[in-house]
Amino acid sequence: MASKLSLNTSELFIFIFLAAALASAELSPTFYDNSCPSALRIIQSTVRAAISKERRMGASLLRLHFHDCFVNGCDGSILLDDTPSFTGEKTAGPNNNSLRGFDVVDSIKSNVEASCPQVVSCADILAVAARDSVVALGGPSWTVLLGRRDATTASFSQANTDIPAPTLDLSALISAFSKKGLSTKDMISLAGAHTIGQARCTTFRSRIYNESNINTSFSSFQQNKCPLSNGDDNLSPLDEISPNYFDNFYYKNLLNKRGLLHSDQQLYSGGSTDSQVLSYAYNLSKFLSDFSVAIVNMGNISPLTGTDGEIRINCRRTN
Ligand code: HEM
Ligand SMILES: *[C@@H]1O[C@H](CO)[C@@H](O)[C@H](O)[C@H]1NC(C)=O
Ligand SMILES: *[C@@H]1O[C@H](CO)[C@@H](O)[C@H](O)[C@H]1NC(C)=O
Ligand SMILES: *[C@@H]1O[C@H](CO)[C@@H](O)[C@H](O)[C@H]1NC(C)=O
Ligand SMILES: *[C@@H]1O[C@H](CO)[C@@H](O)[C@H](O)[C@H]1NC(C)=O
Repeated sequence: MASKLSLNTSELFIFIFLAAALASAELSPTFYDNSCPSALRIIQSTVRAAISKERRMGASLLRLHFHDCFVNGCDGSILLDDTPSFTGEKTAGPNNNSLRGFDVVDSIKSNVEASCPQVVSCADILAVAARDSVVALGGPSWTVLLGRRDATTASFSQANTDIPAPTLDLSALISAFSKKGLSTKDMISLAGAHTIGQARCTTFRSRIYNESNINTSFSSFQQNKCPLSNGDDNLSPLDEISPNYFDNFYYKNLLNKRGLLHSDQQLYSGGSTDSQVLSYAYNLSKFLSDFSVAIVNMGNISPLTGTDGEIRINCRRTN
């Protein structure tokens, strides 16, 4: 019996080969089942506690995963703080004075580290926290693929070029997602994330004062909250009907020309994507199931796996 348990040389090579292949394999839903079986439960309970304190936090956490994935892939790069010798992504145009939830990610990370030191990546924490946030706000659930590792670098310039701006027209939105390997269909369903959360006046001022493809009662109402000068940081909900519920009112609003951002209304402005917006406005379950597929696709953008990158101890800095 004892000889059965030890490996001869060629068995050892096969073992090493298989272990190496597994280590560089694709993401997997069971990645932490043995190394940190409590990881998912800890992340979920920390996310739920944060959202029960402030519903908007669910939106902020979901957005962090998006902004992470669109810059060098889903590698936790968004979480790195600037230092005197390092400029991360946090002050890039789309992120500066805009992203929130870093403190919640810190508490998730320290809770997970307490159970399983240096096992669970910050990039995976963002992917799981995004799912748990959507579920907590009444949206769909999906199986999160795991095994991403954390970058030791970030890209301020790519954060400026690759995260789509709210001023983009439909064709540029399609290109921005296509550049990340995501289809137009995925783009339309992912944009439905704007069924939750808030935007600052500065991101939609030109739409509410200068555009014609907008509901006039909606633009007057928004102009009261977002003056021509001053009030850059005044907030309006991206979905005025139910900003804390993950439903399909985002698309219903677009049918009434009540999209808040220029980019939102572009999805329903007489172009090729109108039909998909209509189908989501009329069929909630279709939106929820397409969103679940699209966000898994987004979570697969260029992850670091195997021995690439590292598992950060503190999400704000490299080890
Ligand atoms: C289609 C292209 C997109 C554009 C142009 C865009 C743009 C924006 C802008 C300008 C804001 C407001 C930021 C601020 O005022 O500080 C915002 C908020 C938000 N975005 Fe997007 N976004 C897009 C796609 C997405 C995607 C794919 C997701 C997630 C899957 C997402 C999730 C969110 C959420 C949840 C908020 C609210 C965050 C909060 O309340 O803290 N967005 N987005
Ligand atoms: C980020 O915002 C701060 C505060 O508004 C501002 O002082 C700083 O210049 C901005 N950073 C960049 C890189 O634009
Ligand atoms: C509206 O458009 C005009 C002309 O392009 C521009 O000068 C003005 O700044 C815009 N107003 C807002 C609020 O964006
Ligand atoms: C403007 O919004 C109202 C309320 O949602 C809606 O009844 C009306 O049809 C909208 N008008 C247009 C032109 O979409
Ligand atoms: C709504 O979408 C679901 C899922 O795609 C589909 O099975 C169902 O038939 C659709 N319902 C209607 C009323 O079209």
